[in-house]
Amino acid sequence: MTKLRSRLWFNNPDNREMTALYLERYLNYGITREELQSDKPIIAIAQTGSDLSPCNRHHLELAKRVRDGIISAGGVPMEVPVHPIQETGKRPTASLDRNLAYLSLVETLNGYPLDGAVLMIGCDKTTPALLMAAATVNIPSIALSVGPMLNGWFKGERTGSGTIVWKAREMHAAGEIDDAGFMEIVASSTPSVGYCNTMGTATTMNSLAEALGMQLPGAAAIPAPYRQRGHVSYETGQRIVAMVHEDLKPSDIMTREAFENAVVVNSAIGGSTNAPIHLNAVARHLGVPLDNDDWQRLGHHVPLLVNLQPAGEYLGEDYYHAGGVPAVIGQLLAAGLLPHPGAMTANGRTVSENCEGRVSELPDVIKPVDAPMMRDAGFLNLKGNLFDSAIMKTSVISKAFRDRYLSDPDDPEAFEGRAVVFDGPEDFHAKIDDEALDIDDDCILIMRGAGPIGYPGAAEVVNMRPPARLIRKGIHALPCIGDGRQSGTSGSPSILNASPEAAAGGGLALVRTGDRLRIDLAKGTANMLVDDAELERRRATLPDHPFTPDSQTPWQEIFRDRVGPLSEGMTLRGADAYRGTAQKGVARDNH
Ligand code: FES
Ligand code: MG
Repeated sequence: MTKLRSRLWFNNPDNREMTALYLERYLNYGITREELQSDKPIIAIAQTGSDLSPCNRHHLELAKRVRDGIISAGGVPMEVPVHPIQETGKRPTASLDRNLAYLSLVETLNGYPLDGAVLMIGCDKTTPALLMAAATVNIPSIALSVGPMLNGWFKGERTGSGTIVWKAREMHAAGEIDDAGFMEIVASSTPSVGYCNTMGTATTMNSLAEALGMQLPGAAAIPAPYRQRGHVSYETGQRIVAMVHEDLKPSDIMTREAFENAVVVNSAIGGSTNAPIHLNAVARHLGVPLDNDDWQRLGHHVPLLVNLQPAGEYLGEDYYHAGGVPAVIGQLLAAGLLPHPGAMTANGRTVSENCEGRVSELPDVIKPVDAPMMRDAGFLNLKGNLFDSAIMKTSVISKAFRDRYLSDPDDPEAFEGRAVVFDGPEDFHAKIDDEALDIDDDCILIMRGAGPIGYPGAAEVVNMRPPARLIRKGIHALPCIGDGRQSGTSGSPSILNASPEAAAGGGLALVRTGDRLRIDLAKGTANMLVDDAELERRRATLPDHPFTPDSQTPWQEIFRDRVGPLSEGMTLRGADAYRGTAQKGVARDNH
């Protein structure tokens, strides 16, 4: 049996005085000395649910079942709050707080008497924040998804989180619905507790936490209100106690092999363009190399199997009934498409031991590999004088567009367009319907000042609707490029996460409305057709801190000072040097 680190607080024979001090206050709400001093693992339940975090709020209930599981297996649960990261509530963007929650959870897990952790994941950035902290501290950890909301319905049709908002915005702009209709149709997509029921960033990241091996098999897709969600919470609590005894750590599970598996699974599920940012960040904190070239190389050729909005038609309950992540992985395994079947997972078994033989129970929701939704459904990683790296999600591009620009690698056709540049979403909203811009279907919309430094935090503002007059003519999307992100629930054919961002002097800082842009998807290039001398002239006119409004809080300033580009996971510079803090011993005594 491994020696528990919590003993260095609660039962340290070499320092009885400090043991008494560490112990006494934890007795004051009724925990006994027997519980704290008899070699029972002390397990953090890293609680992301709160009234401010409705997507994860159901974790307040699930934590009770996690506690039951921990106690039944001989552990001691300690529920601790995590800084809230609510995607739909936090301004200027929840992603500004991913690194803050990460930092604070590192301090919590490292600085308190904890032997293991249950990571209560769910809403978009809560999953990477908690996995990043577990990666840095590297104590045995297991993730538990809160689960998606039930399917939304409106007039007999499924209405999916987020996706319906983008659709309703178009209908509203075109005058098809009024304000009340807008509210009603959007609210129909949130019928219960849980996170977004589409294949947005939440379902993506929770599925990938399972594909990485950090959740029990099948745990990601169970809808939040289902009884099975309570069952798996109990089992997760039981399992973390065994993981502490086995010393099964994040670094044993989240290996390079596990990340390669996750990249492949991301293509098969039609995962969000936020996934490369977050997985690259988690990998970085483990010292595992992973970059956007890996995403294209490992992921692009993988077929899309999961028919969920925004790329398809179904929602979270359907995904669960079709078999969830194990059915996707089982089918990839059978086709020889999962690169590392032997990767270890949180239950102590390999991916293939967990998923071998699993098939789709609803073949219209999770398609067979030989009849997928689409072939080659992964991301492209584009480069050129506009940016060093930007991601394009090919699974949401229209068939006509794919046929013309992507399908024939021997005879590639590039698309060209006229740039229309917006400096932030306020500029976009003020000008998009301005007739003077003369926007037509030859245009490419550019959003800049929306990256990690510029926003700050990199906001999901790159998916821009066309002018209302084009929507009324049936043009529902124009190509968009930006140094911010796009909601995982949006189906826009956008080029996202452009790095370096305009605020860091990236190529987007130099582009001007009217420039011709040339995007060659087959070659993976994206360029302004502007000569280098002119670009240098433009660069000389840039101010010291271009596209960077003033910070409004201390954290915004600290974040801007230290943050890296989206292509590298938007992590804090230097933080990745602190790997495996738990293996380096505990901090000095506090008194
Ligand atoms: Fe929280 Fe989508 S807004 S999961
Ligand atoms: Mg979002």
